[in-house]
Amino acid sequence: MVKTVRTVIATHETEGFRKVTSATTIGIMTAAHWTPTYGDPFEPVPYRPARMPAEESLATAADLRRRMDARRTVRMFSTDPVPEQVLVDAIAVAATAPSGAHQQPWTFVLIEDQETKQRIREAAEEEERISYEGRLGDEWLSALRPLGTDAVKTHLTDAPYLIVVFQQRYFLDEDGTKHKHYYVDESVGIAVGMLITALHLSGLAALTHTPSPMRFLGELLERPQNEKAFAVIPVGYPADDCVVPNLVRKSLDQVLIRR
Ligand SMILES: Cc1cc2nc3c(=O)[nH]c(=O)nc-3n(C[C@H](O)[C@H](O)[C@H](O)COP(=O)(O)O)c2cc1C
Repeated sequence: MVKTVRTVIATHETEGFRKVTSATTIGIMTAAHWTPTYGDPFEPVPYRPARMPAEESLATAADLRRRMDARRTVRMFSTDPVPEQVLVDAIAVAATAPSGAHQQPWTFVLIEDQETKQRIREAAEEEERISYEGRLGDEWLSALRPLGTDAVKTHLTDAPYLIVVFQQRYFLDEDGTKHKHYYVDESVGIAVGMLITALHLSGLAALTHTPSPMRFLGELLERPQNEKAFAVIPVGYPADDCVVPNLVRKSLDQVLIRR
């Protein structure tokens, strides 16, 4: 049985910002603010997006392939300001990602405050120094050598924004009952992929930075116990003198197998 089409308004709330995305009319949820749906009945709603003509699909895919091939991870950022709304929209894109059991186990903390960025840099560099001085081991250090990275992380203070992504490992309801989240790594990984894609296609550069261990981020940003830092993503424009490692991507025949 088909029910009335309803509108979607996704609300994303983090410490750093609050943003309500525009409503769409494909009909998924009715609430302005998502609440847990454990044990709720299945309520189908129609989903009938207009079908894209094949020629348009082909042109779109080829264009996206070309534009995404031009994406590079940037570690040298300009301090020039960027329009904050681009980041907010990119986070809203990330928050449309598919997730295990639709549990949306992510939080995005958007940081512009220079003092907070400085504190993150100091804590990250402390961990990175220990890592580069031996904790990583020879094999890992050897894998990193072509990237030219070291323990100095200027991008954490140069980039106008940092997005710190947290995974919600579980959910605590109002009674304090713990609910398991499923496929958290996969879900947050997909969301971050969509975030990076949205940022790139909107003209901004990003770095996926994973200082290890990342426990300091939860403490510094006062995130709750159920959240675990997943990545720090500095975002901005590349510096005028930006360079990137000369890397070669695997060719399509190395990654695509047809059966
Ligand atoms: C899960 C993950 C973790 C990463 N961690 C770091 C990091 O901590 N520091 C860094 O400089 N780059 C990091 N990177 C960026 C990779 O080094 C980069 O994506 C890779 O070298 C390919 O370069 P490209 O993104 O320009 O194609 C990470 C990327 C991923 C996907």
